[in-house]
Amino acid sequence: MEEKNTTHILYGNIVYAVSPEKLVFSEGAYLVCENGKCRGVYDSREDALRTLSAQPEKVPVTDFGDRLIVPGLVDLHLHAPQYAYRGLGMDLELVEWLNTVTFPEEAKYGEITYAAQAYDDFVTDMKQTATTRMCVFGTVHPEATLLLARKLSEAGFGAYVGKVNMDRNAPDSLCEESATASFTATMDYLRKFAFLHSQGRISERVQPIITPRFIPSCTPELMEDLGELATQQNLKVQSHLSESKKEIEWVSELEPDAAFYGDCYAKAGMMGNPVTSVMAHCVWSSPEEIRMIKEGGVFVAHCPQSNTNLASGIAPIRCYLKEGLHLGLGTDIAGGFSRSIFRAMADAIQVSKLYYRLVDQDQKPLTLSEAFYMGTLGGGAFFGKVGTFLDGYDLDAVVLDDSGLDSVFDMDLAKRLERIVYMPESAALCAKYVQGERIL
Ligand code: GUN
Ligand code: FE
Repeated sequence: MEEKNTTHILYGNIVYAVSPEKLVFSEGAYLVCENGKCRGVYDSREDALRTLSAQPEKVPVTDFGDRLIVPGLVDLHLHAPQYAYRGLGMDLELVEWLNTVTFPEEAKYGEITYAAQAYDDFVTDMKQTATTRMCVFGTVHPEATLLLARKLSEAGFGAYVGKVNMDRNAPDSLCEESATASFTATMDYLRKFAFLHSQGRISERVQPIITPRFIPSCTPELMEDLGELATQQNLKVQSHLSESKKEIEWVSELEPDAAFYGDCYAKAGMMGNPVTSVMAHCVWSSPEEIRMIKEGGVFVAHCPQSNTNLASGIAPIRCYLKEGLHLGLGTDIAGGFSRSIFRAMADAIQVSKLYYRLVDQDQKPLTLSEAFYMGTLGGGAFFGKVGTFLDGYDLDAVVLDDSGLDSVFDMDLAKRLERIVYMPESAALCAKYVQGERIL
């Protein structure tokens, strides 16, 4: 295998978040990477080189000139098999959209040639985005989902990739036969995943994740088995929670003994301690559910575009920030049609303004800094030390050329970042690194 150089220095205009409130801007600076880890940002080349144990003449410095270097973006929630029909069916709400558009399409991934073509298209297009890490849903099919994991690995992404579990309320073409059949298919997926890891055919940056679709799709029996598995094998969990009102009503009919929606996950041991989970949406979480999310250290994947498209509602993200919840952003392809996490930042800010104006004037709109934080360090924390350029973090970075946005208007680095967030299509992606390895 070709040896990858992960000790090097990048020069450019460097921007990163260190907290929701604080962005750091370093114009014309040197970002040091040693064995894939950040070793700080320096104003002078000499200071940058001094931090490394390697001989200075052996350390390559890549000069990105006036371009921006920002942490790779993190998509904390999306569905790869929905990519092929993004932007369609958007006149429907969640439950109708799942039944009429999503489930019939996902059933096709039992056919491996269809899955191969679709996942090629997905990965090829995702390479051209600023996203470096993702938590992604496949389908119920182990083989197709393994193929997705391999393709993401080949492209250099960091990812959690889940084989979906569904043993009720789905068409026969998609529904797994029983809780046992669903659980067995997940075990098969995990075994084959481990084998591909051992062969070096999937990199360690790509990992499996337990993926019960949502409570209406999974019986309590299946949930219990999956929760035990996650606990025993130290696996993370991804799912959906309190996305739409109709869905929540459906859950209360299906599981009348649960105190609230999140309680169904808690009963299966999927709301923290020791399992780490990410729940998409949390648009309509009750105070008890929010407390459970907080106490369990559960990550919330905020998907503002999807919540708008499916008319689900507006998640109270200002409240969640005040509560100190772990927050990241998701495109939720294909509830969302855009694959851009910059776009998700802009959407998050926009919907927070509507929430402030129309719902609760005590909940101030999100700032650019808060949105940028969620799309980098906030979501990155799910992957470990990921999402910023502080010492010891994985060096995931993207290099952006925003010269297409040049105008007579005089712009500092903060303004340039702001424009990229709102108009990402006007900034060209020049390079992409994950753990110090150049992947584009
Ligand atoms: N809830 C259960 N499945 C899905 C899905 O595929 N997309 C969204 N947005 N919500 C879901
Ligand atoms: Fe989703």
